[in-house]
Formats: sequence, structure tokens, C-alpha cells
Amino acid sequence: MSARPHRVAGKRLKRIDGLGKVTGKYVYASDFALPGMLFGKILRSDEAHARIVRLDVSRALALPGVRTVLTAKDIAPIRFGTAIRDRTVFAAEVVRFRGEAIAAVAATSLEIAEAAVRAIEVEYEPLPAVFDIEEALKPGAPLVHPGWSDYQALPVFDREGNVSGRSAMAGGDVEAGFAQSYRVYEHHFTTQPVHPGYTEPRTAIASWDGNGDVSVWCNTQLPFDMKNLLAEVLDLPASKVRVVVPGIGGGFGGKLRVGVEHIAAWLARRSNRPVKVMTTSEEELTDAYPRQPTVITLKTGVSEDGLLLAREARVLLDCGAYANSGPATAAIALQIVAGPYRTPNFSYESVAIYTNKGATGSFRAPAGPMGNFAVESQIDLIADDLGIDPLELRLRNVYREGDKGPAGDVLTSVSIEDSLRRAADAIGWKDRRPGPGRGKGLACSWWLTTGGSSGVYVKINPDGTVTVVSGAVELGSGAMTGAAQILAEELGVDLTDITATDVDTNLSPYDYGAQGSRTAFSVGNACIAAAKDLRRQIAELVAPIWGVAPETIRLEDKGVTSGNNRLSLAEVAALSQRTGGGLISHGTSIQPMPVFDPTRVKNHPLPAWTSHSFHTHAVDLSVDEVTGEVSINRYVVAQDVGFAINPTYIEGQIEGGVAQGIGQALSEEIVYDGGRVSNANLTDYKMPTMMDMPRVECILIEKPSVNGPYGAKGVGEPPCIQPPAAIANAIAAATGVRIQALPITAEKIALARAQDED
Ligand code: MOS
Repeated sequence: MSARPHRVAGKRLKRIDGLGKVTGKYVYASDFALPGMLFGKILRSDEAHARIVRLDVSRALALPGVRTVLTAKDIAPIRFGTAIRDRTVFAAEVVRFRGEAIAAVAATSLEIAEAAVRAIEVEYEPLPAVFDIEEALKPGAPLVHPGWSDYQALPVFDREGNVSGRSAMAGGDVEAGFAQSYRVYEHHFTTQPVHPGYTEPRTAIASWDGNGDVSVWCNTQLPFDMKNLLAEVLDLPASKVRVVVPGIGGGFGGKLRVGVEHIAAWLARRSNRPVKVMTTSEEELTDAYPRQPTVITLKTGVSEDGLLLAREARVLLDCGAYANSGPATAAIALQIVAGPYRTPNFSYESVAIYTNKGATGSFRAPAGPMGNFAVESQIDLIADDLGIDPLELRLRNVYREGDKGPAGDVLTSVSIEDSLRRAADAIGWKDRRPGPGRGKGLACSWWLTTGGSSGVYVKINPDGTVTVVSGAVELGSGAMTGAAQILAEELGVDLTDITATDVDTNLSPYDYGAQGSRTAFSVGNACIAAAKDLRRQIAELVAPIWGVAPETIRLEDKGVTSGNNRLSLAEVAALSQRTGGGLISHGTSIQPMPVFDPTRVKNHPLPAWTSHSFHTHAVDLSVDEVTGEVSINRYVVAQDVGFAINPTYIEGQIEGGVAQGIGQALSEEIVYDGGRVSNANLTDYKMPTMMDMPRVECILIEKPSVNGPYGAKGVGEPPCIQPPAAIANAIAAATGVRIQALPITAEKIALARAQDED
């Protein structure tokens, strides 16, 4: 790593929220309670697609301790949704997936609420259902939303019937490219639904005051979006809604959208008491926002020496019963199927599709692992066929500085070659098949640092400490510590001098939210802006006293200096309070959108990526000859982070992302049996444990971005993108078995081997 001129930024310092969390004193939303609080519970559909012909809550209402029972009839009939307003708080006449909320109860104890839910009587008249995306596209397929054309929706997506969105990107002449090709390869890949696996269940506690204002304490990633969503479904002006995030135990995209907040708010409104609602594991696995399953077809034409000449890709993405971010995720898949590869002629299209399964959503690097599994598996298949080393084939095709991305945007700070070489060196690539049943695999990718604006209020207190009020929550990644390190650097204080407050939409400045690998980046930039403004305020205050030019004023070592003059930051903050209301600033930041070529893009909300990053994973694994069980010997990640604000927490993000990626690669799947999830518990839904995790060797590459604080790039999402492809490639190297459907279970490997031997 480069020599560091910094005191605080770039150092392995302890996180500002660490002690409370490791001692168990930190209050997460799920710990939060209010006096007199009731407990809410949700009745969920037993049918995947059916008309509700009778819904009788009278037995539930009669139970002692039950204060409220709500169904669609009792609340405002408002549709909401991310891309399409296709969903209501409770299913009204029709249920569209098994697990959909039909009614909710508030009672004086959780046990009573559960009993009341069981006492509600529902009769259904089943409707024809569709569970498979290819079936859902056929003419005459049952429509999940017969009224789709009346829904309000973002105009960017092209919709029809079960298609909730279509997007495309194209450049060059793909047919001519195939015609020129030495060989053309076509492969199909499928990926499964996986749960984000956050530790803390989704939770909300709602309370109404005497003025008709509601406060909701919850663990959302996007408090300002949540405020607006709640205002909509409660049919209130947004000014009447306050969202507070006391603490959030992981999100990974699964807490971007409404979970139980709307139900808690309605229950509290009708019962005139605070109400807490928290999900169970079963509810998490049947009605959350898992990663969308996909079916991906890739057709790639190459020259004799392995240069990519043309590629056609079709991505079908299963949204489940409600579109949510499915159409946007399908669009993002287009950049992922491009890979980090120069491809002169291409035509990519994606289709987001409704089915009668649980709604899905954005999960850490939406579209990333699915598209990358397809692209990076196919690169290895092509390399094998051409007899070119897979590393060499990648090196011949990867983007170089100044190349254009699929939307025609110019790529800068391109580091993919470096990451490939360093990961390959670290894993010992020259010896790809070190022994029987053992093999090595590589996968590389690119990703963005999401834009959107960030704001912070920064206050210098009269004891010299600093308070930062941000609208972004600390998900657990350490991103807010990273932003605080930037702020400490800029203000000349220590990290331990900085405190970050909880997010409260009544008090916090707006932030686009903890999503899209953007928090440390964007909040860090906002902190730089706030610090600059504070330096100006301080200079204007102190320079006249000392009779020096304002430009000579410096902030260092917890003090304000100019030549031989020095005051402590505490003294200056106290002086400012006496004379001018104190030292406080609102810093903001936003990333400029890159210029792109609109003729290459159709129906895409995010055609050009901001501050992209590049990364390579390399794995060395062994496969049991009899059982097909995979054990990972070594795992290496070379990730370009631009500037490592805190290497320790970046490594933590990489380890966690690799764990999620290993789960998606080998064991995790929400298994549907028709419309029913058959493994809706954490015993049968197999997330990796510490025992399954290899040590992850992290190589942090620092090729500075143009826009990030000190050159930083987004870090959080990328590490979960490549594990499925890297592992699939290593399994193929170890066994000769190529599995093109995730997860690659031991059973699939063993069966494929048995077939090979037949
Ligand atoms: Mo992420 S899927 O933007 O939380």
C-alpha cells in the first residue's frame, strides 16, 4: 500500500460503535420497547394464488387481551411499490403468494397475538398459479396481476402482463460479430433465491401522539424512503411521520423496503397504543426480500486467439408476486453480463417477471452474483475449449483505462488487470490442479459506487469533541466509522473525539441511505464538505483576533493554529458559542453522473456506473470423491478499494461478502415446492457457519477513484459477487464436472459424476 500522509484515515482504528455492540449494551430496533406496548402478529396466506371468499375475525377479536384485528377493509386501500405500485398492506380480495399478509392482530402479549391469528377463519377459492418464469411468459399463462395496466409505475420500465420490466443495451453489430467469430458458444445458467441473512429480524415499534403524528422505531436501511412510504400507506402528509433507527443488525439490501413498519403503524393507530411487530425466521424465509432467481442465456463469439467479438445475453429474473426492485435489478444485470470485458458487438436484454412466489428484492450487489456466475463460468468454458489458460483469456479481454463501458461511458481508474494478476499469484495459479480432487478457480468482476446525495451536520462541542448527525444508518459494516475517520482527519482531531448520533428523520439531514456501497464514500465526502465549511467559520472567527490572514489558519492536533498562535479547538468552539451560536455545519455531497450514449440503452434507470471498482477472487478447493462435498482450502480476494479508509473493516466486509457468496455457491436456497417454501427455517435453509468458512486472504488494491474521499471506492457489495463463479470454476478444475445451476450442492456434483461415468 502507498505511504500514508494521514493520521487517522487509512488506519486500523477501533470502530466508534464497537464497544456498545461487543458488550451487548447497544440498543437495536429489536431491543427497543415503549411503556404499554402491544405485540403485533400477522396472519399469512396458506394459498399461492386464491380469492379470499370468507375472512372472519370475530373469534380472534373475542379473545381476552386482543385489542385490534385489522384486515384490508379496515385501512386505507392504498397501493405502494418501488418500481410499480402493485402491493397493498394486506391482500384484499386475492392472495398472490403463500405467506402474504391478510390480517394482523395487536394484543397484550405475543402469545395472545399468536393465538388470535390462529383464531381467524379464512376460506379460499384457488386460482390458477404460475411458479416458473418461462411458463409465466407464455401466452395464456395465468396473470399474477390481471390489473397490471392500471397500476402506477415508473415510466422507465416497459411492462406487459406478467412482465414487470424489460431493459436492453446494445452496441456495434452483434450479428456481424458472430459472423466474424472463430467460434460461438451458447450456455444457460440458473440461480436460486437466497435470503440476505441479516442477524436481526425486521422490527418496528410504532407510536402515535395526541396530534396525530406517528413515530416509528425500526431497522430500515432507508429512513427517508420509509418516512415517505409510511406517509403514503397511512394517507398522511409526510410531515406527520417520523422514522427513527435506534440500531440495525445488518441489512444487505433486505431492509431497504418496508418490512413490518406499515403494519405496526396501522395497528398502533387503531389500538391507540404503541405496537411492536417483529418477524420470525419462518416469516423471513417466506415473506422478505430474497435475491431474485434468474435464468441467464449467454451467447459469445470469439476470435481464434480468444478475443471476445460479440455477445448476446438474455436474463430472465423472477420477481415473485410483487415487483419491488426486480425491474431495476434486471436492468443492472446488463452491466454484469457484459463482465469487465471489452466486447465490440453486443446485445443484452433482461426481463423481470411476476410469479406466484414470495416477493423478492435487492440483495447486496443486486444482479451481481447471478450475472457473474454466468459470465465467469462461460469464460472458463471458452478457455477450456480454446485451450487457453483462463487467466490469460481474461487478461486478453479485460477493460483498460479509457475504454468505454456498455453504455458508452468512459471508464477511469481501471484496475482489473492488477487484481487478476495479484489474486492469481497469491493462489499459486501456475499449479491449477495440485492433486486429485483438488482445483483452483478464478472469477473477476466490476461494480459501482452508488450515487445519490448525502448530508451531515457536524458540530464542534465546547469540550473539543465532535458530533456528526447523518441521515445514513450504520448497518454494521463500519462505514460510519470510515466517514468519521475522514472527518477526524479533516478537523485535526482523533477518531475517539467523534460521536455519531442515531438517525431520526425529524432531526437528521437527508441522505440517500445506507445502500449500494455508498455510505463511507458519500458520507465521507459530505464530512469533507462540512469540515471545509467549519475551517472557514473558524478562520473568520480567529483570524481577526490574531490579525493574520484567514488562509494561514490550520486545524491540527485538536487545535487552531497560525504561525505561533494557537488555541485549542475546545476554546474556539466555546468562543463561537459566546459570540456566534457555535460551530456547526451542513456538509453535502453528490457524485456527478457519467456521460453515456443514450442510443445504446433502453429502459435502464442506471445506465452508467459511478466510481466503479474492480475485483478478482481466487479459490483453491477439494471435492470429496464419494460424497461430492466441497471443502475450501484457500480463498483469496484482490479488491480495488481506491483508498483503504480502514483496512480492518474493509477486510471484514470482504470476509462477510465471501461468506454470503459461499452460501449462494454451495448450500443456500429458498426451496419452493409449488408455491410453498419447504425449508422455511434456519435448520433446513443452510447458511454457512464459521465452521464452513476458510480464512479469507485479502489483497487491497488502491487505485484512487476520481470522486471518492481520498480516492476511496465503494467496498461493501462486491465481495459477494464472485464466489459462485470462482467456486464453480474450481470445482470444474478439480473434478471435470461443470454445474450451471446454483447452488452447487454435494448431491449435484456426485450425481453429475455418476452420470459422467455411465
Ligand atoms: Mo444494497 S442491495 O444497495 O443494500
